[in-house]
Amino acid sequence: MASRRSAAASRAPTLAERADKHKIYQLAVQSPEADIELIQHFYRSRRRRNAWRLREDFCGTALTLSHWVAQGPRFSGEGFDIDPDPLEWGREHNMAPLGHGAKRAILHEADVRDPSVESPDIRCAFNFSYWVFRTRDEMLDYFTRAREDLAEDGMLVIDVTGGTDSLSEEPYSSKVSGFELVWQQRNFSPVDHSADLTLTFRFRDGSEIDPPYRYSWRVWSIPELLDLLRAAGFGDIDIWWQDDDSEHGYRKTRKGANDSCWVACIAAFR
Ligand SMILES: C[S@@+](CC[C@H](N)C(=O)[O-])C[C@H]1O[C@@H](n2cnc3c(N)ncnc32)[C@H](O)[C@@H]1O
Repeated sequence: MASRRSAAASRAPTLAERADKHKIYQLAVQSPEADIELIQHFYRSRRRRNAWRLREDFCGTALTLSHWVAQGPRFSGEGFDIDPDPLEWGREHNMAPLGHGAKRAILHEADVRDPSVESPDIRCAFNFSYWVFRTRDEMLDYFTRAREDLAEDGMLVIDVTGGTDSLSEEPYSSKVSGFELVWQQRNFSPVDHSADLTLTFRFRDGSEIDPPYRYSWRVWSIPELLDLLRAAGFGDIDIWWQDDDSEHGYRKTRKGANDSCWVACIAAFR
């Protein structure tokens, strides 16, 4: 009888086996060009000038930072992540192709609460990664350090999601080129708002890829985050609501809309 190993070796590899999980993740959930336009728009709407230095927190493969420094010699920045695996992948696949330009980006294998080498104009934490901080004290500590680390007229920008469907455990799927992305949030606790999120990538042949990241987090609300940002010392805070009909896909709001699933960005100025 053929062993399992030889049976696997004799068949063609599945699409999942042939895929690169970091590449697939980037394709599925990241849009660096749009994000950069958006954060410059948020920054310019208050500061009336361009930002030049970016810090990407929870940077993973540092895709956004690589696009940032690729804009030209004035653009520089730093990325922070505790996991060496995506950082290494990002150095090879996102930074190395920039050649000399890659020298304007520093990737730190370090906690996001650590200080920058040089204060950033914009500091971003996207795809809700900062939700790993589950207590008020942890989140306040993160926001306080982020504010102190910003340039004098700097901006912290974070995204946030919610809505009447957001606590459902139903899987939600969307098609990306060549595969399907399935989000599923499980184990939501109404007491402490903790939950686990899994992203699964499913291919045409039915094979699935192990997600590069698993999330165990707290589902935060906008008013909780605003209270903490103000407690951390941020003065001017804008809320930008995702709206496909607006310039750059977001409009500034004081009220939001009670949609079943919404995404917003909070831009907090030092
Ligand atoms: C989902 S990935 C984010 C990837 C990408 N930047 C994005 O926006 O989609 C979350 C990353 O946060 C990192 N991470 C979690 N806790 C961290 C911490 N305290 N300091 C730095 N990185 C952290 C993980 O290693 C992981 O690479």
